[in-house]
Amino acid sequence: MLVWITPLAIGLCQHVVSPVHTHVQFMVQRLYYLSVILAAIGFGWRGGLIASMLGGVVYSTNTFLASPPAPYTVLDVGLEVMMFCIVGVMTGLLADREAKRKSALEQTARTLDTAHRVVQENFEQMKRAERLSALGQLSAGLAHEIGNPLAAIEGAADVLDNETCPERRREFLGIIQKETRRLNRLVTNFLDFAKPRQPDWEMTELGGIVDSVVGLAAQAVGRTSITFRKKMAPFLPLVECDPEQLKQVLLNITINAVQAMQPNGGEITIKAQERRQRVYIEIEDQGCGVLPEYLHKIFDPFFTTKDDGTGLGLSVSYQILQQHSGMLTAERNAEQGMTFCVVLPVKRTRIL
Ligand SMILES: Nc1ncnc2c1ncn2[C@@H]1O[C@H](COP(=O)(O)OP(=O)(O)O)[C@@H](O)[C@H]1O
Ligand SMILES: [Mg+2]
Repeated sequence: MLVWITPLAIGLCQHVVSPVHTHVQFMVQRLYYLSVILAAIGFGWRGGLIASMLGGVVYSTNTFLASPPAPYTVLDVGLEVMMFCIVGVMTGLLADREAKRKSALEQTARTLDTAHRVVQENFEQMKRAERLSALGQLSAGLAHEIGNPLAAIEGAADVLDNETCPERRREFLGIIQKETRRLNRLVTNFLDFAKPRQPDWEMTELGGIVDSVVGLAAQAVGRTSITFRKKMAPFLPLVECDPEQLKQVLLNITINAVQAMQPNGGEITIKAQERRQRVYIEIEDQGCGVLPEYLHKIFDPFFTTKDDGTGLGLSVSYQILQQHSGMLTAERNAEQGMTFCVVLPVKRTRIL
């Protein structure tokens, strides 16, 4: 509304200012352009044209009726009104183009937003499907792993029922105890895997952890001749991690190394060094190694090549390291055996 009143207000000013004050008159006449431009910006080329015609009518009426008469000819006034129209229409066309571009941009932003939402939904669906399939695989693996010891326990119990020889009874009782321990280990490890606890972060000294891992692993050596060698780089920094979980990871790997070196024995080397704010702990053994075709499977839950294995040690370790924003890798040694490498950031990586 204001846009349409402006030419009239300017006309009134022009009427009030005497044509004798040529400078002021000149200024007031230029103001018509302002009203034309405003109308064009607000209402496009049509608005610009209407405002310039309205301004033209007011301007020419004022000019011809001025007393004393203004020093302009009809041609002067006609040309001025034509300029109003040209400025009005051109500004309007530019404003229209800008508005169109803006609405195209808004449309693109809306399309992108919808596409983003669709992708997000698909991603969530995929994650759900993946979780379900992983859950299915896990359950199948668990059922299978529980099935074997249960069958052994049932068989042993049946034999015990009819057995009178104390020697045989002891043998079958031993089987039941062994299989029950295996089931217990399986369930404990599975719970670690299926419901891992959050790390209790502490600034941890690696030397102490490695010492206690070697001490514990030495208990599992039995009669085989296995030597442990530690190669800790000097000035290792304290590492922000859960010391108990890190111990569990290193112990799982070291016990595997000990088992892989039965019955021939050999050397297990544990090296630790720091590079670019990460510590690398390598555990190298001289055992039987992993067959190349099994290398990609060893971190899968329930993958085991041992009669009494649970196949959960490495998958639990892998998961713990993921929670620490770290990594676990396995490589076959050039000569013999395997090298497992635990990588940990020195400082905890906080996920915002
Ligand atoms: N140091 C190693 N040397 C040879 N094989 C290994 C070694 N570490 C792991 N493996 C292989 O990876 C499998 C999975 O290990 P793990 O998850 O600890 O389960 P488990 O020890 O109960 O079998 C083992 O059964 C074994 O075949
Ligand atoms: Mg193991």
